Amino acid sequence: MTRVFSGIQPTGDLHLGNYLGALVNWVAMQDDRDCTYCIVDLHAVTVEYDPTALRQRTIEMATNLLAVGVDPQRATLFVQSHLGDVHGEATWLLNCVTGFGELRKQPQFKEKADRIEAGDLEGQVSVGLFDYPVLQTADIILYHAEEVPVGEDQRHHVELARNIAQRFNHRFCPEDAPLFTLPQAIHPAAAARVMDLQEPTNRMSKSASSPKGVVGLLDEPARLAKKIRSAVTDSGTDVRYDRQEKAGISNLLEVLSAATGREIADLEREYGDRGYGVFKSAVAEAVVELLRPVQERHAELAGDPGEVERILADGAARAREVSSVTLAEAKDAMGFWAG
Ligand code: TRP
Repeated sequence: MTRVFSGIQPTGDLHLGNYLGALVNWVAMQDDRDCTYCIVDLHAVTVEYDPTALRQRTIEMATNLLAVGVDPQRATLFVQSHLGDVHGEATWLLNCVTGFGELRKQPQFKEKADRIEAGDLEGQVSVGLFDYPVLQTADIILYHAEEVPVGEDQRHHVELARNIAQRFNHRFCPEDAPLFTLPQAIHPAAAARVMDLQEPTNRMSKSASSPKGVVGLLDEPARLAKKIRSAVTDSGTDVRYDRQEKAGISNLLEVLSAATGREIADLEREYGDRGYGVFKSAVAEAVVELLRPVQERHAELAGDPGEVERILADGAARAREVSSVTLAEAKDAMGFWAG
């Protein structure tokens, strides 16, 4: 079975964009792949953060992931810091085969460092922020992941992981017995690009200027239906897919398509000339139905935090079985004396 690894930071609440853009694929990949999913709390501390919120968000993220359908029977779900010894030590080893220049030119580092220096993000440009991609490399290659489902913004990080893995193999392993698998970023074709309901040319994002544009996974049905019915649309009347001319309507078509599994062309035929009101109501209803079971499952799990903790402890134990072996092999290959 193809090995898959992905990670998500425990920051903020999940929204419809996270769900339809990424997490539905996490769930679908469990059917035919060996999946490991990680809540990357060690990555979350590379910029200014609130320690009390971190703890709460970590457990909340785990609850959310389980609610959307990450299935601990079929996938491994764990919290990165529970394996901080393994991931941290692996990061140190990999630091020593990573070029300073290679990290300095990482686009995400440059962007965040610029924002911190401009005073637009709090805190300092930490060494942790600089080293972030090497920790991510450790995450991926400790589990011999072949596929890494991520958004476009993570493409460079996965490429770096591939380069570091290859360099390590070349430098420390016999040619016919490389230790690390070379990972590849995948961007599943089915992933929906969900845009902000109020500013439909921007992606739906937790840093949006107004909460009205963002559908939270746990928004009450009446609230989320209202957000969808108030979505910004153009002044025309036809329901037609055209990202340039009709960004708002196109976004809603994409959401309805993702929520129902129906083709966009099919939806255009059904709603084309029935007016925006009818169409928006249909989208609102579909999203309410899509999120209903997620919200029910969330409520169940939130009422039983011991169950979530047990799942995470079990996930960490299983993740350790794999990653501690890889780490020991890497140390051996690098020539450390085991005593
Ligand atoms: N950097 C990723 C993000 O912000 C999260 C992440 C950490 C990750 N480790 C990973 C993603 C390993 C994929 C694989 O989205």
